[in-house]
Amino acid sequence: MNALRKDLEKLVPLAEQSAPDPGPWGLAFHLAPPTGWLNDPNGLCRFRGEYHVFYQYAPFDANGGVKFWGHYKSRDMLAWEQCPVMMCPDQPWDLHGVYSGSALCGEDGMYLFYTGSVKYDGGHDYIMTGRENNTALAFSPDGVHVEWKRLLMGPEDYPSGLSRHVRDPKVWEQDGRYYMVLGARTAESVGEVLVFASEDKLRWTHINTLRTPEPFGYMWECPDLFQLDGQWFLLVSPQGVEKTGPGFENKYACGYFPLYGDFRGDCTLGGFVPLDYGFDFYAPQTFRDGERRLLIGWMGMPDAEYSSPTATSGWQHCLTVPREVVCVDGRLRMRPATELEGLRGERREYAFSERRSIPLPQSAEIQVSWEGSLSLDLSGVRLEVADGLLTLTAETGGYGRTVRSAPAGSLREMRILMDTSALEIFANGGASVLTARWYPEGTERTLTLGGGGRAAVYALRPMTVTRP
Ligand code: FRU
Repeated sequence: MNALRKDLEKLVPLAEQSAPDPGPWGLAFHLAPPTGWLNDPNGLCRFRGEYHVFYQYAPFDANGGVKFWGHYKSRDMLAWEQCPVMMCPDQPWDLHGVYSGSALCGEDGMYLFYTGSVKYDGGHDYIMTGRENNTALAFSPDGVHVEWKRLLMGPEDYPSGLSRHVRDPKVWEQDGRYYMVLGARTAESVGEVLVFASEDKLRWTHINTLRTPEPFGYMWECPDLFQLDGQWFLLVSPQGVEKTGPGFENKYACGYFPLYGDFRGDCTLGGFVPLDYGFDFYAPQTFRDGERRLLIGWMGMPDAEYSSPTATSGWQHCLTVPREVVCVDGRLRMRPATELEGLRGERREYAFSERRSIPLPQSAEIQVSWEGSLSLDLSGVRLEVADGLLTLTAETGGYGRTVRSAPAGSLREMRILMDTSALEIFANGGASVLTARWYPEGTERTLTLGGGGRAAVYALRPMTVTRP
């Protein structure tokens, strides 16, 4: 093992063991970093009966730093085990960060495709010069220890006409071949996705480029390409898209293009559809689990205009719960994976016809259905349905988060997963989802309902996380 990896693998547990208490906003059923900073989910898969969740992890600084791959695994997505960091920045091609990527499971082990980041010192723009985004592969025979890493492609191996921003390999097997999508920024600052093919996972050939007829943002991060009910979808997190209203109100967008035709040759992208309408959702990744497709997103936003006060307790950000993605009338919907129902404790039912307040546990699932109008207040977060929109207003505890809206359609029901400082709101059967962090003071939580309808509230048990 190289000396750098050896030392880093000793230092990370030291940082984790000396981490301060996560504080009042520590989460009950969302995966957060043991200490420090978390962003994108990586390498999601089910390998030899266990779900593996890797994530972008900067263990030494809650405000971000050099990226490792953190690691949790679980048999049921309720009881998690924290594993040692899967990958450290320890090679010449990934020295300044083991960036995002994906897993391909084989009989012999787990193949992890990732981006190795290198940034040069000096007066660079870090767009056209000064950085390398290398595509690399790591192999793990047991899904817990990496045996070897290898550089697959560097900037000189990518098609011409690109900037130095080319990253986030998502790899899958289809018809006896391997395919990879990579997010890219062209030299003209237009976002696109590169498609590669390989026979052996090691040598890759560029076979196609997916782009919109008109530029749509300057960079497409974290691509994912999959088929659901016969329809192909290209998931991306585009940067530089105009802020035009619901679904396009955050610093960066996140959503999908339906893809028509064959991604290997003639194909076109349909209109971009936002995947989530809340403040904190980015860089989601999907994976196949038997017949279903699951998705986990980063509950955060790069370069956000708002903040997270947990940084003062030494940690920042979390992942969404695992969600199932389904296709309804050619559009994607998301709903919590059914396993999450295993967290449900006591259930209480309420009818409301006038304003009514209900005390809540700190972690709860709330199901509301109503006729006519609805106003709902959750300890400082207000939800209202009016003028065809479901609007979330962070009145207190938003730390800069203000208002976000989602299309309401003929909305009559909603399901809310509420954690200590995280909200996932699934409306219209998952057609409109709002994901947000918020940081209410104290431990008391109250649900105030106005309008007319019914609510069912489950207390949610915390999931268990076994730490080393
Ligand atoms: C998205 C992203 C990826 C990159 C990773 C680095 O949030 O910028 O494009 O691989 O984060 O942490």
